[in-house]
Amino acid sequence: MAGCRGWVFCLTVCAVSLFEASAEIKVTIPVGKFFTYELLRETFQNDFEPLSKLYAGRLYDDPMIFKCNRQTFPDLPEWLRFTQRHPYDNGFLYGTPMSPGKSVIEIYAINKRSYEAARHILVIKATAEKMLPYQAEFFLKLREIEKVLPSSVQDEIKQDVQNLWDTEALEIVNITNALDRGGRVPLPLAGHFEGVYVKVGSEQYFSDCLLRVMTPEDQKQCRAGDKVKVPGGCNFCSIPSNCITWCKTELFDLTKQQPAPPAPTMGSGILEDDGDFNPPESPPSRDFFPDYIVTVIVPLILAIILCLLLAYIMFGKREGVEKRNARTNQIQLYHHHTIHGNSDELRSMAGDRGAPSPLSTLPMFNSRTGDRAAPLQSDSIPLIMAQHDPYSDTLPRK
Ligand SMILES: *[C@@H]1O[C@H](CO)[C@@H](O)[C@H](O)[C@H]1NC(C)=O
Repeated sequence: MAGCRGWVFCLTVCAVSLFEASAEIKVTIPVGKFFTYELLRETFQNDFEPLSKLYAGRLYDDPMIFKCNRQTFPDLPEWLRFTQRHPYDNGFLYGTPMSPGKSVIEIYAINKRSYEAARHILVIKATAEKMLPYQAEFFLKLREIEKVLPSSVQDEIKQDVQNLWDTEALEIVNITNALDRGGRVPLPLAGHFEGVYVKVGSEQYFSDCLLRVMTPEDQKQCRAGDKVKVPGGCNFCSIPSNCITWCKTELFDLTKQQPAPPAPTMGSGILEDDGDFNPPESPPSRDFFPDYIVTVIVPLILAIILCLLLAYIMFGKREGVEKRNARTNQIQLYHHHTIHGNSDELRSMAGDRGAPSPLSTLPMFNSRTGDRAAPLQSDSIPLIMAQHDPYSDTLPRK
């Protein structure tokens, strides 16, 4: 019985490891060549509902989204990109490795109907290979990256370029979305596309057709912004959407490239011995007295002088109230006092409702003492002076 259990366990482990192995896909690709891997929804659909086709006879076509990353890393390797336009479309991993090495990519598919998830492993091994020395880049204006990545479309594009380059020995080196290179998101209308750059490389030197891109007159036309057509005899595009934008064609001759500058030589990281440290001499002493006089004493003296001047103007030139009163004639002083008294009276009345009625409304009174007097004993001083009064000489001049 125990042996039987052991066998069952062994079988299970084997089955699981087999299943795991089947979910691991290995590819070997050369460095410097374009790589595409299509994530087929069909394959993942089988993982989600492996038996529904057989038993229930039902075929699902679920929307799916993919998440790809390097194993134990949050992101994809630098050279690898992922794209999927819509959950009902297949996804693509694409890119061009630039250095040899192994990348383990985890692919998670999430079923948007049942929210099940499946995981596949893709092991990409990049092997060293010589770079193609002559490369050319074309811009396909009427394309979108997902439409170019299927291998059939890549072959169509390659065929056109083979005609243009006049050689069979061509490889696609890179395909990039124009949006990744600073292109604009197109309007969501028919006839507007994101645009795709396709880079192609070959061992053979550029054809005459390709070299015409470099001619001065072509470049001048392109700079002028005219709609430059592919020159006659060089137009090989059979499918309109695969036609290239002539002015955006670029040629790269890697054989002419400068060798990389030599790496800087590394030192030991320790500075050379320069003997003992000699502290600098202390600077000569400076006389700060003139500065002190200019900045402190002079303003202080000026301030004191101004103070004295102001004090003299404010106090020295003033006459006292008594002196002034003595020089003023009596009738004018009296006039002033009545004005003051009246305004005081008005002020006190304004502050209090129940104030007694003003003295001036009484039949007769002494304005100084408030005493009433007989009407006939009126003060001999008139309240308002006559125009020409005998005291006018004693009034202070102005
Ligand atoms: C391919 O294109 C991408 C995006 O422009 C760029 O980052 C990458 O270096 C290119 N690879 C090669 C081999 O030209």
